[in-house]
Amino acid sequence: MDVTEARPDPELLAAATAAHLRAYCPYSHYRVGAAIRTESGAVIVGCNVENAAYPLGSCAEAGAIAAMVAAGERSIVEIVVVTDGDTPGTPCGGCRQRLREFAGAGVLVHSVSASGPTTTMTMAELLPHSFGPEFLDDH
Ligand code: THU
Repeated sequence: MDVTEARPDPELLAAATAAHLRAYCPYSHYRVGAAIRTESGAVIVGCNVENAAYPLGSCAEAGAIAAMVAAGERSIVEIVVVTDGDTPGTPCGGCRQRLREFAGAGVLVHSVSASGPTTTMTMAELLPHSFGPEFLDDH
């Protein structure tokens, strides 16, 4: 099956949707929720958290990754990101690299707009020719 046709896991979608509604974004008014399925089967969420000192705001994916590592998990098997609007918001460049640290090339990243339309890509499609931890193994 073409990965673009793969649907998000319903439990992960529900978790990302709930996190999306909890976003703290009084400046951009653009809510983002992320949910990560880890190798152990856990579901870990994050949302964007903005700040009056604008550059200190953090992305939903970054929050989810921090929570995942703090929970003792380091391997991602599926990711769902829910964003406001009619167009699925794909992870920003920085978050693509953050996800790449813990997700293999074939991991599916589902970008879901609040009104429904979804874009699904593999990690390698989202961040081609990427740099990752294995480059540091034998230097
Ligand atoms: N945002 C995320 O949470 N994840 C992304 O990958 C893109 C952008 C947030 C950051 C900011 O709070 C708002 O969306 C607008 O950029």
